[in-house]
Amino acid sequence: MTDGNPDSTATAHSAHPQDEVAPEYDDTAIRFLEALWGEGFLSPGGPDEVRRVVADLDFSGKRVLDLGCGSGGITLFLAREYELAEIVGFDVEQPVVDLATERAAQQGLADRARFVRGAPGPLPFPAESFDIVFSKDALVHVADKEALFADIHRVLRPAGLFAASDWLTSHDGEPSEAMRVYLEAEGLSFGMASASRYEGAMKQAGFVNVRTVNRNAWYRGVAQLELERLKGPLYQPVAEAVGSDYVDKNITTWSAMQVVLDSGEHCPTHVFGMKP
Ligand SMILES: C[S@@+](CC[C@H](N)C(=O)[O-])C[C@H]1O[C@@H](n2cnc3c(N)ncnc32)[C@H](O)[C@@H]1O
Repeated sequence: MTDGNPDSTATAHSAHPQDEVAPEYDDTAIRFLEALWGEGFLSPGGPDEVRRVVADLDFSGKRVLDLGCGSGGITLFLAREYELAEIVGFDVEQPVVDLATERAAQQGLADRARFVRGAPGPLPFPAESFDIVFSKDALVHVADKEALFADIHRVLRPAGLFAASDWLTSHDGEPSEAMRVYLEAEGLSFGMASASRYEGAMKQAGFVNVRTVNRNAWYRGVAQLELERLKGPLYQPVAEAVGSDYVDKNITTWSAMQVVLDSGEHCPTHVFGMKP
């Protein structure tokens, strides 16, 4: 929505270099991931996992940023379930932001949830714009964790909270051969890092009460079920939606992912902190 708010202008930039780069989350990827994870969800766990990430937050009257909102299912879930003042979904890709904006209108939530698309890099919001920054499995795409957390800290108000889930690794050394195979199969612009790198980047930015919770054991089991569903009951309907080659490619990706989930090198993690 480009409604004249200073922080909505990012969507009006039609000619920045990102426009010439094919989106990673294009219509086919969105259709595939939503078939697996539910409408509007481009990451695993559905509403239950979101509730776990936000369990300690009081949203009442708060202004919230959903960083890397994707097709907006979680942004709209938060807008519907909690008494927040406003939630802004930000993403760098146009197809997901267009879909999220359309769904906010369809679901009668456009007065409390709006979506902004902008280039990767510093967020297009003034300092101290938000009480809460939430993110689900999106920061994995940002390699420079130090710059990322400095910017998240900038847009939070004093006493503002950060609560996220993200895809981390168990170490910051060279990826194992199994991890390399997985990352190549995934083919996305991942910049994975360890919990200690996240914690260090957050503390360097000025966050306190920094805390991480490794969710590997949970996703390890869930991913196994996802793979079984993809090979079994989901195969035919999803192949009809996106083509069997696309499903086959993702069965390869999920199989490679299971190896690094089983070894513990791939560790989905919850990340929390507060701006004093
Ligand atoms: C795995 S999807 C998760 C989307 C959503 N949070 C969810 O859980 O359904 C990752 C999202 O991060 C977005 N993304 C990639 N780079 C980003 C960046 N630098 N800043 C914000 N979002 C980014 C992608 O476009 C994509 O929509």
